[in-house]
Amino acid sequence: MKNNHQKAPLYDALIDYGLKSNPIAFDVPGHKLGNGIPKEFKDAVGADIFKLDVNSMKELDSLSNPIGVIKEAEALAADLFQADHAFFLVNGSTSGVQNMILSTCTDGDKIILPRNIHKSAFNAIVLAGAVPIYIAPHIDEFSGVSMGVRSADVIKAIDAHPDAKAVFLLHPTYFGYTSDFKTIANYAHQHNMAVLADQSHGSHFSLHNDFPQSATVLGADMATISMHKTGGSLTQSSILLHNNGIIPYSRVRSTVNLFQTSSASYLLLASLDIARKQLALESSSRFKTLLPLVKTTVQKLNNLPGIQVLSDHLLDNDAMHGFDITKITIDVSAYGMSGFKVYDYFKARYNIQLELGESHVVLAVVSLGDTKTSLNALYEAFKDFTSKHALNPKKTVKHVKLRIPEMVFTPRHAFFAPSMLIALSKSIDMISADSIMVYPPGIPLVVPGEKITQAIINDYAYLSKEGNILIGAHQKDTNVYIKVLKP
Ligand SMILES: Cc1ncc(COP(=O)(O)O)c(C=O)c1O
Repeated sequence: MKNNHQKAPLYDALIDYGLKSNPIAFDVPGHKLGNGIPKEFKDAVGADIFKLDVNSMKELDSLSNPIGVIKEAEALAADLFQADHAFFLVNGSTSGVQNMILSTCTDGDKIILPRNIHKSAFNAIVLAGAVPIYIAPHIDEFSGVSMGVRSADVIKAIDAHPDAKAVFLLHPTYFGYTSDFKTIANYAHQHNMAVLADQSHGSHFSLHNDFPQSATVLGADMATISMHKTGGSLTQSSILLHNNGIIPYSRVRSTVNLFQTSSASYLLLASLDIARKQLALESSSRFKTLLPLVKTTVQKLNNLPGIQVLSDHLLDNDAMHGFDITKITIDVSAYGMSGFKVYDYFKARYNIQLELGESHVVLAVVSLGDTKTSLNALYEAFKDFTSKHALNPKKTVKHVKLRIPEMVFTPRHAFFAPSMLIALSKSIDMISADSIMVYPPGIPLVVPGEKITQAIINDYAYLSKEGNILIGAHQKDTNVYIKVLKP
């Protein structure tokens, strides 16, 4: 770190403006520093927060052309996260992923990426008109969880598509595993391809030696970090990182401005600045205390009958090159119950909100907000769960396989082509015009342009039977309808 991270220029300027300077507001937002906010809302959450919900003005700089406190705050973030530039975002990492793909690809450009990407990447491909070249990620045989990609598979794709414009990687996957980013980035750069990292689940990576290194250090030209996921900022706030090189800064600036609201929330922006300060000053000592607690919790969970935590024992120096231990992925399949059901059970029985359930696993995300008490509550709940349920290894829980359906049209073509709603059960061999997924994790079963198969319909039926609400399908009476291309 080269800079003085004691400062939080944007946060300080907002506090001065909203809480100290007492302006008479004749600008928007029309609630005028909270005066127009309904009383019951103010009574419930306090009045001060609304004094900080202000619009862009000279003292507070402008997000689309930062020359003041936002510029300073972004420079500090770039310094902490080891990149040449940082762009603050208020529409989540979704907009970061869109910005990365639209900064590198246009109509007809190929992009190489794993199939277990988040829906934001598929949506960005629609917006850009790009052509996806999918790589199957490695799947852990026991848990069915999708991991990183094998370097050889990416290299093969680069060799087969030397005209591709970019390689896009998850760094890490939802479950905390990273691919061999450096090897892949080097090979992609030798072939003049940009390297993009979805580091949504790894904003804390550069901050402790136990974590994998940040993508910007390993060769990414751009990376998106969801500060709101594990960095301590407010939901929706995120940071796009850029390194000088293959993608011009001016292209990124223009792309960011294409999507960004002209009324960005200063609460979100200031939360990025103050969270960056906290990470810079405190994360090292706090992780020093927290990580041994996480390790102990994982050991204790592994000692419970039938429970297995996916961890660094799976590392293979390739598709599972690195691992983030703050992702506690717990395989519960020995109890003959799906992770979807266990996810619901934990909320209902223990008031524990897990991050997600999958066929065989549930995921608990740990961050700087956790304590010995919260980790202990997680362990005690699992202890109780295992004491109340019988092991049932004979009852096999169905895996929902990650499929790569046949792509008949590009996602953009299919998204904009004439479409119609049809009962899911009658859609076999038709071409999907929409993405269908469980959220989280938001990895689609099918995306626009892909052929629907019986296997996809079966997966849908299983996932909804397990209590999931699927995005992209429409329930009418007892039937499920989906959007397909008109024949
Ligand atoms: C891998 C991945 N990328 C991108 C996103 C989008 O992030 P956000 O919700 O901040 O828009 C998510 C969200 O869960 C994600 O899991």
